[in-house]
Amino acid sequence: MDFKEHLTIVENFPKEGISFIDITTLMQNGEAYYAAIEELTQFAKEKEADVIIGPEARGFVVGCPIAYSLKKGFVPVRKKGKLPREVISVDYGLEYGKDSLTIHRDSIKKGQRVLIADDLLATGGTIEATIKMVEELGGEVAGIAFLVELDYLNGRDRLKGYDIFSLTHYQ
Ligand code: PRP
Repeated sequence: MDFKEHLTIVENFPKEGISFIDITTLMQNGEAYYAAIEELTQFAKEKEADVIIGPEARGFVVGCPIAYSLKKGFVPVRKKGKLPREVISVDYGLEYGKDSLTIHRDSIKKGQRVLIADDLLATGGTIEATIKMVEELGGEVAGIAFLVELDYLNGRDRLKGYDIFSLTHYQ
């Protein structure tokens, strides 16, 4: 399937100069969403993931169906102030902003193989912060799966040494 046909590029959103890749047009098409998740699930299976984690909010719509279809758990990574129990947190920079991310301290067990899922790799700040938290908790990053990778932002360079699979690339 040509997944790019189902993605929409929106210029100057949310700020002037940003080309936003809108995944909602892919998600609202049942066959495209299913096929995309199937491919990422295959990658997660090959990596023998024990648990899937994804950053809010778009990481949930990618990570949760992978976890469901592999009968694995899903762990949410959230912006600060959203998780109710004890968390660890990391500051990070975004393509267009800054924030901190948190994860429940008891969400990952030592030695677990963790598959990180998100909709899009831009600068890599979100996933770099996510990796830090996974490793601080003793998890092993088995692989990282995206629907979209923006090659021109070189996010992959920040994630050297990790196994990355992206369904589509934009140059
Ligand atoms: C977007 C996107 C990725 C991240 C990519 O999320 O869903 O998680 O930014 O950017 P990076 O590689 O430069 O870190 P955002 O924080 O906008 O949150 P949302 O999913 O709630 O819209």
